[in-house]
Amino acid sequence: MTSDGFYARHAGTQGGAAGLGIPLLLRAAAALQCHGASLQLADLLPLGALITALRARSMVPVSVVHTDLPTNDWATLFRVLDSDPRSYLRHHADVYASVVGRSFYERLFPPDSLSIAWTSSALHWLSRAPGPIPDHFFVHRSADPGVQDAYRRQSVSDWTTFLAHRSQELRPGGALVWVDVLRREDETMGAEALFDCLETALRAARDAGTITPAEYAAMVYPTWFRSLEEFRAPFAPEVAGPSGGTLHLEELEPVELPDPFLESWRTSGDADAYGRAQSAFLQGFLEPSFQAALKTRPPEVARDILSSLFSDIARRIAQDPQAVSPQYHLVRGRVTRRG
Ligand SMILES: C[S@@+](CC[C@H](N)C(=O)[O-])C[C@H]1O[C@@H](n2cnc3c(N)ncnc32)[C@H](O)[C@@H]1O
Repeated sequence: MTSDGFYARHAGTQGGAAGLGIPLLLRAAAALQCHGASLQLADLLPLGALITALRARSMVPVSVVHTDLPTNDWATLFRVLDSDPRSYLRHHADVYASVVGRSFYERLFPPDSLSIAWTSSALHWLSRAPGPIPDHFFVHRSADPGVQDAYRRQSVSDWTTFLAHRSQELRPGGALVWVDVLRREDETMGAEALFDCLETALRAARDAGTITPAEYAAMVYPTWFRSLEEFRAPFAPEVAGPSGGTLHLEELEPVELPDPFLESWRTSGDADAYGRAQSAFLQGFLEPSFQAALKTRPPEVARDILSSLFSDIARRIAQDPQAVSPQYHLVRGRVTRRG
């Protein structure tokens, strides 16, 4: 994600998505056995609601461990935890925050140590980009079956790996709760028009010679949005982890998230502000991947290229907000470790 808090300032969409997971987190908290020395929790938002629910049942110390890649904007997380009025550290005593800078496709915690693991808007990120995409930055809009297949296979392998690690880290009775993007049966996820607008800007940059054809092909969003069947596939009927822990799928529910920026455009009529908000949202999660495609350029040149690209995207979005406005198809899920 972008650094210096840029991602965090433009993550209204992701905040809305995370909020949809709260009911499942509360059910996970209600089902948890609260005896023992302390509770270990993993990952981000909306931990305040979860800690409040746990505190109603038990006063044991709570340890919250935030995990992300080593390249994450950790400084912003530390600042938010310390000084944001919504920080759970400001509202609850005997809660201890720490971080792990490591991929969640690896082991992160000791065996049987996690009570609740939480992840939102992250599971679609693949452990690596399987390769360039010749005709679209977003694999689900590509017409290349070979490329689609490579990304699909990476997604199957990553989901299996992720669950195998969590099956060891969760303690018996512990739960994993997630919110992520859903690819529906009609193959859509709801932001196609927005993503196509970005793609049009990328092609314009390539055709104008601002980026080379090789840089264009390397500018990919290294993700795969799973269908309900793809989420369910490892649970047949349960995931049997490598050290005997079994994971059971308790809930898997499609949910919808409306465009968080649309209402203020309807109220203000300010299409430029709408274009800037959507473009900054896209930049917040795409810029590091696009930057990697410009690795042979001097850093200041790469920065200028990306800055004009995202300004162009903002202009294109502003031309017709209604036509590009997304309606996100999401899914929330809850898994428990029984054995
Ligand atoms: C769209 S952001 C969502 C962040 C946060 N949950 C939120 O709702 O704002 C996706 C996050 O997943 C992280 N991520 C991507 N791949 C990862 C991996 N393999 N292991 C851990 N985190 C990863 C990214 O660094 C980024 O912080």
